[in-house]
Formats: sequence, C-alpha cells, structure tokens
Amino acid sequence: MVSFPDMRLRRVRELEPVRSLIRETRLSASSFIYPLFVTHGQGVRQPIEPMPGCYHFSLDMLAEEVGQVAELGIPGVLLFGLPAEKDPLGTGAYDPEGIIQEAIKVIKQAAPQLLVVTDVCLCEYTDHGHCGVIENGKVDNDQTLELLARSALAQVQAGADLVAPSAMMDGQVRAIREALDRAGEQNVPIMGYAAKYASAFYGPFRVAADSTPQFGDRRSYQMDPANRRMAMREIETDIAEGADIVMVKPALAYLDVIRQARDRFDYPLAAYNVSGEYSMVKAASQQGWLDEKPVTLELLTSIQRAGADIIITYHAKEVARWLQGRD
Ligand code: PBG
Repeated sequence: MVSFPDMRLRRVRELEPVRSLIRETRLSASSFIYPLFVTHGQGVRQPIEPMPGCYHFSLDMLAEEVGQVAELGIPGVLLFGLPAEKDPLGTGAYDPEGIIQEAIKVIKQAAPQLLVVTDVCLCEYTDHGHCGVIENGKVDNDQTLELLARSALAQVQAGADLVAPSAMMDGQVRAIREALDRAGEQNVPIMGYAAKYASAFYGPFRVAADSTPQFGDRRSYQMDPANRRMAMREIETDIAEGADIVMVKPALAYLDVIRQARDRFDYPLAAYNVSGEYSMVKAASQQGWLDEKPVTLELLTSIQRAGADIIITYHAKEVARWLQGRD
C-alpha cells in the first residue's frame, strides 16, 4: 500500500478539470421525476405553503407547467390528485373522469414525449385519509387490492405510461399486474414503492394532498423506520409480484437502505426525496442558514451515490436549471 509521502491524495484535487474527470457521480436531469399536484377549478396555480416553489395546478394551467418540465430535460412527472369529493371507498381514484385521469389526458396532449407516472393509492380520495378500505376500524388489505387495481387500470386507460403503487398493501403489485394484463396492457411497467416507511417526513405532502389520516396512523401498513432487513423482504416481494422498478422512500434518512438494495437487486432502483426533505432545505435556505444550491446538489448527489437510478424530487426543475448553468 502506497502512502504518504509517496502518495498525495490532494494531487488529483488541485485542478478543477482533474476533479471533474475523476468525479464518480454525476447528477443529470435525465434521472429525475418531478411530482405534480393537480386540482379542480380554473386558473389555479396555488402555492403549497410548506413546500415553497410547489403549486396546486388546475387542468387548464398544466400545459404550461409540463411544457417547462419537458423543456428542462426532465423525462417524467408523477401525478397526485385532489378530488372534488372524498368518500369511504376512494371512488375518485378509479373514476374514469377522476382528476388524475383528466390530468393525464391534458398532459399527453401538451407534452406527448413526457412520461406520465401515476401514484396508485387511495389516501387522497378517501374521507378517512387511509390508503385502503376500512373494515372494523382497520385498513383491510385484500378488499383494497381490487380498488388499487381498478385505479391503476383507469390511469393506464387514460394514458399513463408507468404506474407506481404506494399504498403498501400486501399483494398490490400482483393485483395490478394481473388487472393490467387482463386488459391487454402487458407492456405498461410497474414501479413499486417497495420499501416505503411510515415517515414523519411526509408531513408537508399530506398538507399538499389533503391526505392526513383522520384517525390513527399508517404504521399498520407502512414500514417501521428502524428496519432494514424488512426493506429487503419488501423489495423481494415486489419483484416476485412483477415490479419492473423498485423504490425506497424516503431517501435521505434511508441512504443505507438504498445502498443495500442497489447491491442486492439487479433491478432499476428509484428513491423518493420526499416533501419533508425538500421543506427542510427550503426553510433553512429562506432563513439564510443554509446555502440552498450547493446543499441541494450535495443531497441529491448523495442519493445517487447511494445507488438510486431514478430520483423523484420536488427539486427537479430548479436542479435541472442549475445543471444547465442557468439561474
Ligand atoms: C400516498 C403517498 C404519500 C406520499 C407519496 N404517495 C403520502 C403518505 O404515504 O402518507 C408522500 C410523498 C412526500 O412526502 O413527498 N400514499
């Protein structure tokens, strides 16, 4: 082993071109997916208070937004919907004229090349705010599967390119795969939110999506943040059920999970840099306590370095601009 003074690690750090040549991780807008919140109404571009820079868009305001996303070289958007009404069975999720189904059509018209990814879950559509059907005060796994499958199919029939089940019901990937195959949609891939933790970092999102559970919490279906082996089992299960891409969510507090998933599974891996992770950076930057741009780039680099191929992030647009040398 060569060591000091024969070896000087600083030599390759002296010149920026050398630093650049030996850089191991390179962020690119081409690995980002940008989440969007869609709502009813007209002319709505309503700021989401705890997520500065993010908005609720009505359908008529979507075209301009997705045009920008595509122009920035971001390959896809992930859609979340705010329905006009909620009910116990989350009907809005699988209504062929539901908000997401309408949004998909608008986006496909406005930016045909943009990949439309949809979140398959009931929590934005149920009046109780849980991700599944309630039976005797509990979230019933098996009854929920059929509704998730219907939701995914409604999204695909409206034009979605990739469906991402996030309800954390056992068997959800299989149920969706079977429903899509039966309908002749065997070419539509599934991105499973395989290892999704019961995280307090979803707080700002729940304000944005109005999806806070009205009683209890999500710990009977989302994972315990303390568990890493269980995450490997969740990912294994999603793959066995037919997931084409798997995900770890959140990202920053779970970089070890991302790394282990990368080493263990030869499947495309996504990481979701969630709302609370975004809000922390925004809040500290607004206070002048953190330098927003380098901090954001460092955090996203860490997610990629940990092993994620795809990064779902609310920072996507600003980072894409920075990477183009703008702003
Ligand atoms: C739906 C869903 C949630 C998020 C993505 N899909 C909320 C939740 O599980 O409570 C969170 C995303 C974020 O915080 O950015 N189940």
